[in-house]
Amino acid sequence: MSRADRAKLIEIEKLVKTYRMGQESMNVLHDVDLTVYQGEFVAIVGPSGSGKSTMMNIIGCLDIASSGSYKLDGVEVKGQSDNKLAAIRNQKIGFIFQGFQLLPKLTAIENVELPLIYRGLAGRERRARAEEALRTVGLDDRMHHRPSELSGGQQQRVAIARALAGEPPILLADEPTGALDTRTGQEVLALMENLHRNGHTIVLITHDMEVAERAERIVRMKDGVLTEDDSGRRNRREAVASIPNGV
Ligand SMILES: Nc1ncnc2c1ncn2[C@@H]1O[C@H](COP(=O)(O)OP(=O)(O)O)[C@@H](O)[C@H]1O
Ligand SMILES: [Mg+2]
Repeated sequence: MSRADRAKLIEIEKLVKTYRMGQESMNVLHDVDLTVYQGEFVAIVGPSGSGKSTMMNIIGCLDIASSGSYKLDGVEVKGQSDNKLAAIRNQKIGFIFQGFQLLPKLTAIENVELPLIYRGLAGRERRARAEEALRTVGLDDRMHHRPSELSGGQQQRVAIARALAGEPPILLADEPTGALDTRTGQEVLALMENLHRNGHTIVLITHDMEVAERAERIVRMKDGVLTEDDSGRRNRREAVASIPNGV
């Protein structure tokens, strides 16, 4: 299947973000266009201050754009109430953060179950899904450990299982290896590559080009402007490689 035939999970057009501080206003994203197709592994890479976190917050429905359009899995995000945005976020996005954001008093499996509780899933089904997600990340033997009893790499894998458990169409990772040593970071990136091979759509945000190069597609952010970077493409599926000029 060519990329053009796949669903557009993220469709961003002419997106502008302006922060206002008193009388001053500052444009942080300038007319950003970005389309992410189902099954892609895209890295957004750029230096500090380039607008990555602003972009991540908008993609993750934690913030809204000042103008322009953002369709997430076909739904225009602009104009939705905070409650609706929270629901969209819970259903469409699996978040993976630099600092894992696990609850320290809960075990691995309880952490993974948490977003499923918000979704109203019953106990038995919830547990089964959480177990499956933990198996996917190779932590079936650590399900009842608390975060403090796990290494950093294991904690990040619990966080990835939590992101997977709700089967969201998109995984959104913000500097997922930022708190890990190089070797452990490599393991987490290898896991993400595996998830990609198994069909998951991943958006990875990082300042580190070496990390970005693990993705199949790289877009660069600089001073609030996004540009596609073909030189860094790796791990492309043949189907994607056959698209002329990659839209
Ligand atoms: N809430 C805010 N209010 C005002 N300016 C902000 C706010 N958040 C970020 N900025 C500014 O927007 C620019 C981009 O920031 P950010 O998106 O955090 O970039 P990055 O994540 O790439 O470091 C920076 O100049 C930053 O100072
Ligand atoms: Mg940032």
